[in-house]
Amino acid sequence: MYVCLCHSVTDRDIHQAVVNGVNTLRELSNQLKVATCCGKCASCARDVMQEAQVPCGKTSDKEACTKDM
Ligand code: FES
Repeated sequence: MYVCLCHSVTDRDIHQAVVNGVNTLRELSNQLKVATCCGKCASCARDVMQEAQVPCGKTSDKEACTKDM
């Protein structure tokens, strides 16, 4: 799913960034430009990033972001 429409960033892009060592929204913004235009994606991007940071084998109790962009 698209998280950031302004920069065409998907949840997969964010998951890959976390795998590559991104730990904060600022780092994510620097790498993928998430939340650097209109900023409406910041909350959803943070949720997706935190979900990606859940250790392997565990599931997050958070559901996929369904916020309207
Ligand atoms: S939707 Fe991400 S900056 Fe606009």
